[in-house]
Amino acid sequence: MKNTLDFLGQHHDRYEQELIDILKIPSISSNPDNIDDMRDMAELLKKEMRSIGMDEVSIFETDGHPVVYSEWLGAPGAPTLLIYGHYDVQPVDPVDLWSSPPFEPVIKDGKIFARGSADDKGQIYIHLKAIEAWLATKGTLPVNVKLLFEGEEEIGSAHLEDFITKHEEMLAADYVVISDTPMFREGYPGITYGLRGLAYLQVNLRGTSTDLHSGSFGGLVKNPINALVEILAQMKDEDGRILIRGFYDDVLPITENEHDKLSNLPFSAKDFADSINAPALFGEAGYDDLERLWARPTFDINGIWGGFQGEGAKTVIPAEAHAKVSMRLVADQDPDDIAEKFTTYVKSLIPESMEAEIEAMHGGFGYVTDLDNPGLQAGVRALKKAFGKEVDFLREGGSIPIVKVFADIIKAPVLLMGYGLPDQNAHAPNENFSLYNFHKGIESIVYFFEEIGNLK
Ligand code: BES
Ligand code: MN
Ligand code: MN
Repeated sequence: MKNTLDFLGQHHDRYEQELIDILKIPSISSNPDNIDDMRDMAELLKKEMRSIGMDEVSIFETDGHPVVYSEWLGAPGAPTLLIYGHYDVQPVDPVDLWSSPPFEPVIKDGKIFARGSADDKGQIYIHLKAIEAWLATKGTLPVNVKLLFEGEEEIGSAHLEDFITKHEEMLAADYVVISDTPMFREGYPGITYGLRGLAYLQVNLRGTSTDLHSGSFGGLVKNPINALVEILAQMKDEDGRILIRGFYDDVLPITENEHDKLSNLPFSAKDFADSINAPALFGEAGYDDLERLWARPTFDINGIWGGFQGEGAKTVIPAEAHAKVSMRLVADQDPDDIAEKFTTYVKSLIPESMEAEIEAMHGGFGYVTDLDNPGLQAGVRALKKAFGKEVDFLREGGSIPIVKVFADIIKAPVLLMGYGLPDQNAHAPNENFSLYNFHKGIESIVYFFEEIGNLK
């Protein structure tokens, strides 16, 4: 092990340089203008997988962006890890609010600033470098490894389920490992055992075929924006409880053990509010803050538009009104079932004078895994060794839609060992990744391979 750890020290600067190189590629999956960059990113990962010593390196085409895959299966009898991550990133706007251009990585105060640094290119790179260090110093790994990096996570992983179903045998594994989550606090490693799911929909309301003069028609026709806000106002009560019929039917309450664990995490509502410059926090009555954030479902309006938005005033009754809404879900809520319940509820509230169209955009299940799982415990030991600190047990409010699909199809526990930080600005301007976490992360995965290898 000493050789391998020494190797990390010797190649410390090169690792950072390579990280800079992958962060220069604008692999924004949602933007058709970046289609060639998506391809370049996939090719670069393929080249990298080859150079660190992975076998069967290939790019698989999908109906969307390609999947990059490789294996190293030289440890017969040892467990197999399927390591998943995403090489696509979120758009960069508002680009004016970045302190340095999003695809020109800059190192400042121990952090690397670039789109995709934390979410998720910096984190997938941790695994590549840990594999490299093992193979370069020992010529072998104590576990079998399969690497699966997709390019559509940020747009809902639309083609990955199909890919996994088609290649079920190729992807067979004992554990799925993902580094795509933040730690809870600087210096302290965390293991995430729960994620929220998601149901995302758009509501379109139409009143008339064209906009109307609000003097000639106002008073005798219903305004679709008025109607939309009336409807949306009925989604939650004053206590923050969601009113969609049957919404909470499948919600798994947290266990007492979990509740105790969450209460022991050092969380300050004031610091949390201050970190986002919010005057105060708001959440569902009857639950602790971290429970609200990680283990309770939400309803949010993401955008609402229609009518006149220009400068000055225009007296008009708009023909249409629109809103995008999302619900973060928890285990065991089913995103399709929730989308249906939402649709039924909204339809029951639509005035007679209005036509409505409700489109489900994307969704995914939430996930929780067992804290006693031996693989998770191996992860805990590895993280503790590398960071020299006790491991925080976390859930997260965000979603990785493919996690539940892995759990169901690969039938393996999903271990979420993430190295981001709360102030990483994922999806926002000035996204950043701690270089301390990057290097410690590599060290922890070096240990993790050994810990997992010892399991069987
Ligand atoms: N890495 C995040 C998921 C995440 C976010 C985990 C915050 C923990 C905390 C992932 O890349 C992401 O952004 N997921 C999207 C999924 C959506 C686009 C279907 C999300 O959560 O909004
Ligand atoms: Mn991510
Ligand atoms: Mn993301």
